[in-house]
Amino acid sequence: MARHSKTTNITKTARIISVASQKGGVGKTATVTNMAVGLVSLGYKTAVIDMDAQGHIAFSFGIKKSNLTKTIYDVLVGEAKMREIKQHAFGVDLYLSNNSLSDLSPRVMSHLNSKLFPAPKYLLKNAIGQIKAQYDYILIDTSPSNDIPTLNSLLASTDIIIPALPEGLSVDGIFDTILLIKSIQQQGTKINILGILPTMVQDHTNLHSVMLQDLRKRFAENPDIKVFDTVIKRAIRHGLAQTHGEPDINKAPEYLSFVKEVLSIA
Ligand SMILES: Nc1ncnc2c1ncn2[C@@H]1O[C@H](COP(=O)(O)OP(=O)(O)OP(=O)(O)O)[C@@H](O)[C@H]1O
Ligand SMILES: [Mg+2]
Repeated sequence: MARHSKTTNITKTARIISVASQKGGVGKTATVTNMAVGLVSLGYKTAVIDMDAQGHIAFSFGIKKSNLTKTIYDVLVGEAKMREIKQHAFGVDLYLSNNSLSDLSPRVMSHLNSKLFPAPKYLLKNAIGQIKAQYDYILIDTSPSNDIPTLNSLLASTDIIIPALPEGLSVDGIFDTILLIKSIQQQGTKINILGILPTMVQDHTNLHSVMLQDLRKRFAENPDIKVFDTVIKRAIRHGLAQTHGEPDINKAPEYLSFVKEVLSIA
């Protein structure tokens, strides 16, 4: 796979990476946030799209979601353009969400037989068409489910990263997510699983060390799916960066190493 260029050539088209896991609280939003500021620090033009109705990306970038008048929901239902909802913070263009995104599934389902949403799973792909020439990387934060927003995210992506804690239930979540992606691939959509990122690792505990080794062993037999060499440790500073809404790649050096590892394969 060719390494993506950060030059501003005219034919630029973004690499679109969803960070996804069916399991909640595994560091999806933290990964998207830190990757975004990491990519910007390396000179890449980067956007983030929040496809989770929890709206945590706004929070992570210090923006009040209650102040948002229009969000990605309005774009998906055809009532706004991407440029109208664009925010900018810490060098990253943001296409944010809030609770309104939970209306997407009922709205789309209630129009299934009408011409209003002829391709309900491709609403995001179409929306990204409006902006992808402007960016090197577009990162998508997803919710811990396989709802319409998540399906839209996966189908709009060129690549997927799956964060997971090296613990039983979280590892189980990896397989659910891989199955979902495989079912999409079988329907003919080209998406590449970039790899599994171990998150919130407590390497001083036996459980995490053993489970991490086990995870690497399991996927070593599966050449299709990589477990990244970089691991993200559990650290209070990661949680604090999110609650303070001040992402800073200098305070998250593992994420900078992770971005560099992604760039070396993507
Ligand atoms: N490496 C880390 N060390 C310590 N705390 C972390 C780390 N990464 C994330 N957190 C904290 O853990 C919580 C869950 O992280 P995050 O919100 O990124 O997970 P998520 O997978 O996006 O959750 P959800 O499925 O609800 O969207 C948050 O409070 C976050 O600040
Ligand atoms: Mg999240």
